[in-house]
Amino acid sequence: MEIETISTFEKGPGSISPGFYNRTMEVSRDMTVALLGTQKPGIALDSMAGTGIRGLRIAKETKWEVVLNDRDSRNTEIEKRNARMNSLEPEIMRGDYFCAVSSRKWDYIDVDPFGSPAGLVEAAVTNLKNGGILGITMTDTANLEGKSITKGERIYGSRSVRGRYSREISTRIFLKYVIERGASLGRAGRPLLAVREGHFIRLFVKFKKGNRVADDALKNIRVAEVEGEEVGPLYMGELYDRSVLNGMKDFPFSRTSRDIFSNFWSEDLMFLFYGNSNGEKEIRKLRIIEGLKDRGYDAGGTNFNEKGIKSNVDAEEYRKILNSL
Ligand SMILES: C[S@@+](CC[C@H](N)C(=O)[O-])C[C@H]1O[C@@H](n2cnc3c(N)ncnc32)[C@H](O)[C@@H]1O
Repeated sequence: MEIETISTFEKGPGSISPGFYNRTMEVSRDMTVALLGTQKPGIALDSMAGTGIRGLRIAKETKWEVVLNDRDSRNTEIEKRNARMNSLEPEIMRGDYFCAVSSRKWDYIDVDPFGSPAGLVEAAVTNLKNGGILGITMTDTANLEGKSITKGERIYGSRSVRGRYSREISTRIFLKYVIERGASLGRAGRPLLAVREGHFIRLFVKFKKGNRVADDALKNIRVAEVEGEEVGPLYMGELYDRSVLNGMKDFPFSRTSRDIFSNFWSEDLMFLFYGNSNGEKEIRKLRIIEGLKDRGYDAGGTNFNEKGIKSNVDAEEYRKILNSL
């Protein structure tokens, strides 16, 4: 897809300017388009569209009808030009997020703010049709992964940890946050996909109306003990919907997105992950995964840690296998 941008950032969120386009978010956009391609098409709102690239990709690569919105008129002008350049004619609105989401009911709402999405979830959930999907980004990972655990606790209502488990814990705390907000409105949130990559977390959560199902959705939220520390409350249920993953597997992902996608199949094998060291030496991750599979266990990598391994083997057996390799 051809698009006009004003600022291009190769890495990280960078500074804020109109036409903001972040190359590292390609993974997030790939996942959005691939996931929506697995769903019955409906009407989607790209509520913070920037250059419009995410919504325009949805319009071009799926059968969804797309509406773009941004509060900055310089961005809506860029969106119009980008739509024309790609022979697309989406509706383009200029307005505040809250006006855009409440202008009608949506099958999909994309929320892609700079930094924290705190304060934005309820409006989106309220304006989703029953069974609608929220795609939401957070780039406020510093407050959940090390810089200020106390600030993270204040914003998201849960205690995180620093260190090797922080990326998984932060993802599960963000999920808890979104599911709790939904439950407060009588909506049950069920994750379809969770992506933790670079400086962002990206969640896709489907919401169904009903007080009883909303109560049930909260049953997966608990406090956990991680290396002797109490963390959470956080979401402890499954992060992926297998039928969605099956529907996404033939998507023409970029190389990075494909590598990330391949780990989704193993993420739900366990809470957190095993390391690749037996105390004396590090063992090649692939060798361990093959060793586990040879012994009849499911195993694979994890996007939460480069060296991490997810498997349905128990910890004692894992140690024995590691020592035998
Ligand atoms: C991170 S950028 C979006 C990037 C874009 N979705 C993409 O995939 O490249 C955030 C955008 O949200 C817009 N924005 C921020 N706050 C907003 C609000 N309250 N209402 C509408 N737009 C807003 C900004 O102008 C900016 O263009």
